[in-house]
Amino acid sequence: MRILSGIQPSGVLHIGNYFGMMQPAIALQAQGEAFYFIADYHALTSLRDPKALRENSRRVALDFLACGLDPERAALFRQSDVPQVTELAWILSTVAPMGLLERAHSYKDKIARGIASSAGLFNYPVLMAADILIYDSDAVPVGKDQKQHIEITRDLAVKMNETFGQIFKLPEPRIHTATEVVPGIDGQKMSKSYGNNIDIFGAEKETRKRVMSIVTDSTPVEAPKDLARSTIFELYSLFATKNEIAEMRERFQKGGTGYGDFKKELFEKLWLYFAPMRKRREEILADKSYIDNVLSRGAKRANEVADVVMKRVRAAVGL
Ligand code: ADP
Ligand code: TRP
Repeated sequence: MRILSGIQPSGVLHIGNYFGMMQPAIALQAQGEAFYFIADYHALTSLRDPKALRENSRRVALDFLACGLDPERAALFRQSDVPQVTELAWILSTVAPMGLLERAHSYKDKIARGIASSAGLFNYPVLMAADILIYDSDAVPVGKDQKQHIEITRDLAVKMNETFGQIFKLPEPRIHTATEVVPGIDGQKMSKSYGNNIDIFGAEKETRKRVMSIVTDSTPVEAPKDLARSTIFELYSLFATKNEIAEMRERFQKGGTGYGDFKKELFEKLWLYFAPMRKRREEILADKSYIDNVLSRGAKRANEVADVVMKRVRAAVGL
């Protein structure tokens, strides 16, 4: 089985990215041949600062490795180190119906959030389809918000296969159902663009501050608290064991504990959870050439596969 996923280096990684995409991707690396990349071409649709793009890309690589991506099992590389993917995106765009792209939620959401509209942003799903199809991917671990992009990828693969003969495999999304949407400190979907994020490798003081500012209702300390819409409880459930979760549930329902105390417990759990990863991150940082070596080995492996698939595509379409 070939597993593929990508993440944009458009900012600092947060725990929504971790539980939605990184942890599932890391868990899958043992089950097949994995390709994970830093989607820097995609990030150009929102980031126009070359220094920041370069730095973020390295930082995403660092954070992903610190969280457990094993470069012996998974190829980690920059999207732009496999430029053939833009050629495939062009070819796919020639069969992509406008209506299909016009229906993409992510384009509409991004425009609504103030990202400048551009042909690149509109074509984003076509490039994403190329990312997936160029590695003959079987499984794509992503958060729920990316599901439609995988559906578009499948539609484009079918269209190409119908037009030019069997070229592409149809990939399947792998959506982590337990953590479909990780809430941010305001209770909305955690996202760097909403400013409600808790970062994986944030400084201790800042992380504590963010956890302590999780929005709650105004239930008094003594009263039982509503579990169903509690961001604190939802986040705690991501880090705690079954018994610990059951225990917190009981204390929510019983009353007598204030939200402040629950938040402190959440912070402690979260901080402890990422402790081994913070340590690993320091080790990686101490080895100056480690990240570059990993990325160049990853790029080499990715290019080998992409070259084979592109040869097949060019022959099929007549180039
Ligand atoms: P952001 O919304 O912060 O810009 P991205 O869109 O770059 O995050 O998402 C990168 C990956 O992380 C995607 O696979 C996405 O589905 C996943 N992801 C992002 N935020 C969340 C969240 N709050 N819950 C679950 N998964 C998420
Ligand atoms: N669009 C994804 C996101 O914003 C990133 C991405 C680009 C991706 N290409 C991909 C994810 C291919 C999976 C497969 O998170």
